Amino acid sequence: MEKSELRSEDIIKRRSIFYKAFSIYGEPAGFYDFGPIGLAIKRNIESAWRKVIPEHPGFIEIETTTLAPEPVFKASGHLSTFTDPIMVCGSCHAGNRTDKLLESFYSKKNDKAAITALRKMDLNGMETEIKKNKIKCEKCGVELTGKVEYFNLMFKTHAGQGTSEPMYLRPETAQGIFMDFKELYRLNSLKLPCGICQSGKAYRNEISPRQQLVRMREFTQMEAELFYDPNAEFSKTLLGEYAKSNHIFDTKILFAASGKEPDETTISELVKSKKVPNEYFAFMIYKDYEFMRSIGFEYKEYWFREIEKEELPHYSRCNLDVEVETSYGTIEITGIADRGTFDLQSHSKISGTDLSIMNAEEKVLPSVAELSIGLDRMLLAILDKKAVDDKERGWKWLKLEKAIAPYDYSIFPLQKDDKLTEMAMKINAHLRKKGLKCNYSDSASIGKRYAKSDEIGVANAITIDYQSLEDNTVTIRERDTAQQRRVKWEAIA
Ligand code: ATP
Ligand code: GLY
Repeated sequence: MEKSELRSEDIIKRRSIFYKAFSIYGEPAGFYDFGPIGLAIKRNIESAWRKVIPEHPGFIEIETTTLAPEPVFKASGHLSTFTDPIMVCGSCHAGNRTDKLLESFYSKKNDKAAITALRKMDLNGMETEIKKNKIKCEKCGVELTGKVEYFNLMFKTHAGQGTSEPMYLRPETAQGIFMDFKELYRLNSLKLPCGICQSGKAYRNEISPRQQLVRMREFTQMEAELFYDPNAEFSKTLLGEYAKSNHIFDTKILFAASGKEPDETTISELVKSKKVPNEYFAFMIYKDYEFMRSIGFEYKEYWFREIEKEELPHYSRCNLDVEVETSYGTIEITGIADRGTFDLQSHSKISGTDLSIMNAEEKVLPSVAELSIGLDRMLLAILDKKAVDDKERGWKWLKLEKAIAPYDYSIFPLQKDDKLTEMAMKINAHLRKKGLKCNYSDSASIGKRYAKSDEIGVANAITIDYQSLEDNTVTIRERDTAQQRRVKWEAIA
């Protein structure tokens, strides 16, 4: 049962920002559709990511398939290790994710030591704890008494007739990048270090989807894999030059060392203290910082958490999770992983194709630093953290960074009048020609229209009144201050 609500829950519902999919077919858990406002914000977050990461010099973006044959996931390790612990309820037969059940049980008791111990607990340990503490099924409330087992999170299907060619929906976008790496490297004249990025759907048959966009079964990831020669000194590469001339490693961030609260440090301090494996990894931390800043996050609003060895994904030698505090508690929005040569090595072995490349006349199997951002969790964090409960104004609104607001301007003729409409439509067309997105509305009172514009985070509303017909000026009302100023409409950019 979800206890808390997002701070913008009412706006999300009223404006259909996102909503459960298949509402006419019983809403199976973990699937969400996005209405026009939600889709526009998502696309803008993705564009902001594209500007900062795939468009960085030496980076490219691709699109690969979402279905892949079995050997791909044999090589990636997902077939054998991409599992979560499950206990099936003896009464209603619902699957319960046992690590999450225990985590929430211990959090309610504020038992931090138990939460830390849980990270290292095996299946038997979890079973004992569930039974000892008489923990109940999330769905029907009956006490759980069964066995804890591993459940593979991949969705399986088949290509063609019969069952001869098993296929799986990808649980991460990254594998397409690893498989195509060598060809992309050759055909796009890439040089190490180089980045290959992809934004697209990923699928996980989560045992207990929950907290709306936090744990979905179909979601979007924006991933970037930085390929580098582990023997090449970072400072002597183009990225190194970039880092030095832009002083990027002096950037202040919050870092939560294992088991500790977040504390302020710099990226270079993390490298010096060996909290991160190298500067290539550190570069991906900076890229995440730069992206977060571009979508309106101050560095104090999120932190990089060190992940304990026992909790590392099967492919990783070092991981940082990027976390934010929301109405649902702390959530992970991004993962940064040192994947080393795990994936390229494994695909080389299973496919029989050597994925090493020639770099400065030397054969190299590159190492990989990964930045994996969850687009849906990012949207949810924004909708929660950027909601302003404005008692003075009398309505709640979203303080969205301009770059991600669903529209650049709202356009409001003061009232329904042919002359005002004509001018408003002219201004609308003028701004659209400039590539700006406008939200046109002539229904309801102007106050109600301002409220509707604020609540979806539009930074400026243009009102066309009778004076506009006389002198070509309009009022611009700012969302953040509710102040108005008059300007010539042709000067609006
Ligand atoms: P969690 O521990 O919360 O299950 P994870 O560690 O499995 O997350 P990663 O495998 O690192 O997550 O995936 C990278 C990013 O993809 C996450 O930081 C998150 O933003 C997003 N993501 C992962 N699983 C889901 C999901 N089920 N629903 C929505 N987003 C997800
Ligand atoms: N690509 C990282 C993950 O999805 O786990």
